[in-house]
Amino acid sequence: MEERLQKFLAEAGVASRRKAEELIVAGKIKVNGKTVTELGTKIDPRKDEITYLGKKISTKETKHIYIMLHKPEGYVTTAKEQFGRPAVLDLIKGVEERIFPVGRLDYDTSGLLLLTNDGDLTYKLTHPKHDVDKTYIARIYGTPTEMDLQKFRRGVFVDGKRTKPAKIQILEKGERICTVEIIIHEGRNRQVRKMCEAIKHPVAQLKRVATGDLKLGDLPKGKFRHLTEKEVKYLKSL
Ligand code: URA
Repeated sequence: MEERLQKFLAEAGVASRRKAEELIVAGKIKVNGKTVTELGTKIDPRKDEITYLGKKISTKETKHIYIMLHKPEGYVTTAKEQFGRPAVLDLIKGVEERIFPVGRLDYDTSGLLLLTNDGDLTYKLTHPKHDVDKTYIARIYGTPTEMDLQKFRRGVFVDGKRTKPAKIQILEKGERICTVEIIIHEGRNRQVRKMCEAIKHPVAQLKRVATGDLKLGDLPKGKFRHLTEKEVKYLKSL
């Protein structure tokens, strides 16, 4: 059966679907010995030979792995360190497969980060139309009023565009800092931080505790675990 080249590459674990598109456009992928740069290219994995860096790509031998990491603050969500800042992949030891993060968490955010070599699932989970709830615990400065909370819930302007309805509830009030639970399903850049800034209660500390029904639970900071079969099935069903 024919399929799009970028989908095939993502399924084979070469890269995420977006990254695979970049590889194609950059002329890094060959189909039957010929470089293709067209994103719409359809291939038949049973008949066509796809190569990347001279190596034949096949989805048959690809063992998909799915990992949950408790990302600590002070790590970048990229494959390699950046400007001397360590990368989350440095925390994944003993995994042979080339995996990549699903979406991202800021350098100074901690919590649940999924990593996989299943580029197709990555694409689905990070695509705006899939709306997976992400739950955060934030420590924010000051105590928001009911009006601030309503504003946050209805949506605030972030980079000139209104955010979709979100949830926020106060878990604990302190003297200077308040702990809140926030649920959003978009994944815009530094979204939670910017939303909190918009209601004038900036974030002091941010942690993602769940993606959909997947919970970080008591996984220690800096540690990772493989997802259970049930969890993988759940993600695929989203
Ligand atoms: N929102 C943010 O502001 N930062 C993150 O890391 C995730 C969501």
